[in-house]
Amino acid sequence: MSSTISVNLPLSSYEIAIAPGSLDNLGDYMNRLQLGKKVLLVSNPTVFKHYGERVLSSLKASGFDVCSCILPDGEQYKNLDSIQKIYGTALENRVERSSTMIALGGGVIGDMTGFAAATWLRGINFVQVPTSLLAMVDASVGGKTGVNHPQGKNLIGAFHQPRLVLIDPEVLKTLPERELRAGMAEVIKYGVIWDADLFAKMENCLRLDQMEYLMAPVSGGENSLIDYILIRSCQAKADVVSKDEKEAGLRAILNYGHTIAHAVESLTGYSVVNHGEAVAIGMVAAGEIAAKLGMWQSSEVQRQNILIEKAGLPTKLPAGLDIAEIIESLQLDKKVKAGKVRFILPTQIGAVTITDEVPSEVIREVLQEMT
Ligand code: NAD
Ligand code: GLY
Repeated sequence: MSSTISVNLPLSSYEIAIAPGSLDNLGDYMNRLQLGKKVLLVSNPTVFKHYGERVLSSLKASGFDVCSCILPDGEQYKNLDSIQKIYGTALENRVERSSTMIALGGGVIGDMTGFAAATWLRGINFVQVPTSLLAMVDASVGGKTGVNHPQGKNLIGAFHQPRLVLIDPEVLKTLPERELRAGMAEVIKYGVIWDADLFAKMENCLRLDQMEYLMAPVSGGENSLIDYILIRSCQAKADVVSKDEKEAGLRAILNYGHTIAHAVESLTGYSVVNHGEAVAIGMVAAGEIAAKLGMWQSSEVQRQNILIEKAGLPTKLPAGLDIAEIIESLQLDKKVKAGKVRFILPTQIGAVTITDEVPSEVIREVLQEMT
């Protein structure tokens, strides 16, 4: 199975190529884009150990002059110190305007590499080679790049579109199951906000938490479930980003579940729950808020929550979190406008609305029920 999805933008359109084994052809893909010959590969030790040599060989065989920067693994390193390390490698190796930075890793590496590329020499090319499910279906597409501030998630950043997103689904074989589940949270998000068929497909499948099951060929030689999930999710993201690149309106729907997720991640020091788990908790909260406000049928909220559980994701707040602190932390969210917290709330499976009229008492009540 090979698929190509276009992200159509006024000035910076690009393709998402989904192809098994494509890691070995990265150099060819890059040559087709006629990118300069110097590249800086950014990764972490976990991912580099599995795939670094294959990527380096492909790039070298295609005539690229490669240097690399291996950053420590973890959300706690998604900060300006890591960006300084990328700049240091760029400086030492004379990375120029015509050069390209390549992100080989999950969303943390992708967001940081994109931010370094957006700011180095006021912006150079970058290519996303996402290796986690979450990065494949969400973080690598759409050009949001950045790092965390000690007081808030992704507060420092820039829009900078990649020139290419190259997805090799086979690398998911080494992804830890917890990370697979985290990615599934964003897939469920697309089902709720945009694609009711994707939601139904996930409801009808036996398991969502095991790679062997997801990768098994479907009878009749059709795409495996993971192929379907990658294609539909990337298409959903490409559709939304193509309509609203800089989040003037519609794109905000991609933040479904993220308002409370960011507060939970930040208050737990990015170490208790991962991003996808926090999004799952945030979607449960947003669903319950929508139901309490009479905007979404309780039966559909239940369907969402059952799917979240089926993916092995949490539906309750981590123990020990103070609800008043969560509500206070919501004020730091990027989505706050004139002091009002913005929520994305479902109205039916496949459709959402954006509102900043959620009373704090409702948020408090829902969070209380989730302890
Ligand atoms: P991550 O980058 O920390 O990766 C999760 C873990 O999986 C890491 O330990 C990583 O080393 C490991 N890993 C990745 N691929 C692997 C593979 N193939 N085999 C073995 N191990 C592998 O986390 P993530 O969930 O990929 O991304 C989360 C980040 O993405 C957050 O910082 C979030 O803010 C960001 N994000 C950005 C956007 C965006 O639009 N830019 C969207 C969603 C999330
Ligand atoms: N992940 C949210 C966005 O890309 O807009």
